[in-house]
Amino acid sequence: MQIHSRITDLRAALKTRGRIVFVPTMGNLHAGHISLMTQARAHGDTVVASIFVNRLQFGPNEDFDKYPRTFEADCEKLAAAGVDVLFAPTEADLYPEPQEYAVEPPAIQHMLDGEFRPGHFRGVATVVLKLFNIVQPDVALFGKKDYQQLMVIRNMTRQLALPIEIVGGETVRAEDGLALSSRNGYLSADERREAVRLSVELRRIRDAIRAGSTDFAGLEQAAVAALDGAGWKTDYVAVRQQSDLHPPSGASAALVVLAASRLGSTRLIDNIEV
Ligand code: PAF
Repeated sequence: MQIHSRITDLRAALKTRGRIVFVPTMGNLHAGHISLMTQARAHGDTVVASIFVNRLQFGPNEDFDKYPRTFEADCEKLAAAGVDVLFAPTEADLYPEPQEYAVEPPAIQHMLDGEFRPGHFRGVATVVLKLFNIVQPDVALFGKKDYQQLMVIRNMTRQLALPIEIVGGETVRAEDGLALSSRNGYLSADERREAVRLSVELRRIRDAIRAGSTDFAGLEQAAVAALDGAGWKTDYVAVRQQSDLHPPSGASAALVVLAASRLGSTRLIDNIEV
């Protein structure tokens, strides 16, 4: 696996590499990331991963400084997963001057997670567009665990006519159902045991909708009560349309249930398609 930190070196290395498949990450890789790397192989000739903890997408009181940086272990995992090229820029490589031009996503950036993390999706869209311009991939893969992020990136790619196919990878879960996330590492042993409740509540809502319930508000409130009653601090539990993440407007819309809740100081997100 080649490793490049400078944009010029990466561009030179990718000149004659055929169809490029790209998986951007912030590192601290787990089986969810590795599953994306493995799927990437089927979409082209050269698999490129990136590791960059993007300051722009963290709020002032969020975990940018403590976000786990595990570069050596990540490199071993990427090489074992058959990744061809890793782009691992420093902040000075990617942001040699303050990033004043930015991508301003539309209203979707203010709903759900965006309401609780102002500026987050602006930071994500800006770095992803910049990474796309650097890597110039034919295909890019993103995990469905960050469902709203995937939609922001899909919409940006379509509306800006980027010649990139966006592929969503299924969420990988621990045996008890907890969605894998780099932030799971912040949980104490007790919190880790409790953390499964988030996916349990999402599945409960999914099953109720499948069984015919349309009382979405009631289902959302019951899940918030179950979580908060067990010591969580819930930002939202929301039944939304898969197509645009708006509240359901018609009986036939495909739905997704999304949630974000804080367990101790760790904020977890998860979602499940109905
Ligand atoms: O999902 C992530 O890890 C990040 O948001 C991404 C897409 C790599 C942009 O920094």
